[in-house]
Amino acid sequence: MQLELPEPQPDGLVTPPVKPHTRDKHHWLRRYMHAFTTSMRERYELHYVDLFAGAGIEKIENEGFEWGSPLIAAQMPDRFTQLHLCEKDGENYRALVTRLTRYPQPSAPQHINDDANLCCDSVIQSIPSRGTLTLAFLDPFNLQIEMRTISKLTARRIDLVIFFPDYLDALRNWRAYYAGQESSVLDRFMGQAGWREQLDAVADQRKSDVLWKMYKDSLAHLGFHCGDPIRISSGAGPFLYRLVFASRHPFALDLWRRVTQKDRSGQYGFEF
Ligand SMILES: C[S@@+](CC[C@H](N)C(=O)[O-])C[C@H]1O[C@@H](n2cnc3c(N)ncnc32)[C@H](O)[C@@H]1O
Repeated sequence: MQLELPEPQPDGLVTPPVKPHTRDKHHWLRRYMHAFTTSMRERYELHYVDLFAGAGIEKIENEGFEWGSPLIAAQMPDRFTQLHLCEKDGENYRALVTRLTRYPQPSAPQHINDDANLCCDSVIQSIPSRGTLTLAFLDPFNLQIEMRTISKLTARRIDLVIFFPDYLDALRNWRAYYAGQESSVLDRFMGQAGWREQLDAVADQRKSDVLWKMYKDSLAHLGFHCGDPIRISSGAGPFLYRLVFASRHPFALDLWRRVTQKDRSGQYGFEF
């Protein structure tokens, strides 16, 4: 079942500019969120975590407006019990908090104006450890989500949708991160330092797959399996990043497989 939301309207608050491929990211997220809330609401108290939440409405380059991820979550027909939102930028944060008041929720959203890698402790503490199921969307601009933060989130029963910017950042900048000696942004993202030897050892066209395998291994170390990631590109242009899905639970992995079979144009059998 397809969930349609009304077009967002400009409201005088900030609408950060985004590229048209953002629609693809939100398409997959919205489909999973809808399936998740519909199929799990009877059995669990459902929570939604968005550590890089944005302003709630975005402006697509040369096009109209687009709902941001937290306001997609806020409009699910079967509401999440609680939204937990973190946004570092003050102007985005204030716009998000104002916009959220238009969408009544079963309990007051938790919103934090801070760095995602710092606020995840208080997010986790506010989610009960029993009887809950959480969906987390980790969607920075670059490599800002640290594996250490993901590891903390796994203290709850949780499914993860993660932005994996292999072409957008890691492979563009890995030589600059190389000298970081286990403390570079790529080390913190990957949760391990071995990527240097691995990238050195393979040809350029294999580097993306090597990084992805190492990332999957880090998640497997936390007990998480990955579904087939979605490849996001700029129209007919080159690949930019992967949208990763990870869970401990076969049911969730099967749900991801099913919701990702239909792309934004309605075509089945999407190639990954
Ligand atoms: C790609 S946008 C997120 C868009 C949003 N998830 C959506 O789909 O509508 C990334 C957001 O993360 C925020 N951000 C960047 N670094 C951050 C950090 N370290 N902690 C929290 N938020 C951060 C940016 O201000 C920006 O609003």
